Order: sequence, then structure tokens, then C-alpha cells
Amino acid sequence: MRIAVCPGSFDPITNGHLDIINRASQLFDKVIVLVSYNPNKQSARFSVKERIEMINSVITGFDNVVADCNEGLLADYLERTKACAIVKGLRAVTDFEYEFQMALANRQLCPSAETVFLTTSPKNMYLSSSMVREIASLGGDISDFVPPQICSAIIKRLSPEKGTIKI
Ligand code: COA
Repeated sequence: MRIAVCPGSFDPITNGHLDIINRASQLFDKVIVLVSYNPNKQSARFSVKERIEMINSVITGFDNVVADCNEGLLADYLERTKACAIVKGLRAVTDFEYEFQMALANRQLCPSAETVFLTTSPKNMYLSSSMVREIASLGGDISDFVPPQICSAIIKRLSPEKGTIKI
């Protein structure tokens, strides 16, 4: 069985992620959406449990996609699950250097897994989880950026309450 892992912070999952997951599910027998630890992002707005719940609610239409989490090295997780690929979305050229560096490091640590880059659909080119968080926290409309199943949960958590905005 050819297993692929889509790792990320998913704080929260967006339409951009879902597009990559959808396309990966057509290329591999099984896709694991892996909520992973990014040491450069210390203050997630959603707990790991909440992020997995959101992912689970948007992958119900796929019979070969599951959600999981991992606190340690991605390479160790790949070895444990016998995954043959890491699937990542490439947005702009600015993503490339960082992604290339991670792909090389992961290859060194786990030579049995390839990193596969899928080009992001043009409409998701400038989308990111932090952009969604910022728009929601300022009371904006995020319905074009996240799946409908999780829209209200994100707004409920992040939208400004009257009198709490400080400039
Ligand atoms: N469409 C839209 N946005 C996308 C996207 C897509 N297809 N793919 C990624 N993004 C966004 C993400 O939402 C994220 O937004 P944010 O910075 O506002 O949160 C941004 O692009 C960066 O994504 P990514 O580069 O995937 O970072 P990440 O934090 O989501 O994931 C990990 C990085 C978790 C995969 C990486 O740190 C990791 O592997 N950690 C495990 C520990 C480890 O093994 N470290 C050694 C690695 S060599």
C-alpha cells in the first residue's frame, strides 16, 4: 500500500490544504493528514485536538484519508507508518527555498520517503492559516478560504468580541 503523509500545522486547515489533500488522495492508496510540531510556531490558536477535529470534519468525503498528530520528527513518523511520500503544496517561489531545505533534510533522515510537491491552485496562491486567523480575528468573512464545515467554529473562537479590541 502506498501511504503519503501531508504534514503541517493546520492552525486551522484551509481550502488550500484541502485542495492538496484531495489531489494526493487520487495519487496514493492512503493519505495521512498529520498535525505536526513546527518549532518556529510556538503559540497555536487551536489545540492539537481541535485541529484534528476540524480536519476530521472536512475529510469525511474521502475514504482513504485519515488525520493523526505527531510531536516528534516527521522522518520517524514516516518510518513508523512505512509511508513512501511526504506531499506538500508549493505556493509562490518564496516557499521554495524553505521547502527544498526541509525536503533534503527529510530525505537524509528517511531515505525511503520522497517529498512530492503539488503546485497550489491559483486561487489558493496567497492563502495561509495565519491570513485566515487574522481576517477572522478582525471580524472579516473567511468563507472563501476555509471549508464550510469549520467556518463557524473558527469565527466563534477568533472573531472580536465587543469591547475587547485594543489598538
Ligand atoms: N494552500 C494554502 N496555504 C498553504 C498550503 C496550501 N496548499 N500549504 C501550506 N500553506 C500555508 C500553511 O497554512 C502555513 O500557514 P501559516 O504559516 O500561516 O501557518 C504556511 O503555508 C506554511 O506552511 P508549511 O510550510 O507547511 O508550514 P507548517 O507549519 O504548516 O508545517 C511542518 C511545517 C510542521 C510540516 C514542519 O515544521 C515539520 O515537518 N515539523 C515536524 C518536525 C520535523 O520533522 N522537523 C524537521 C523538518 S526537516
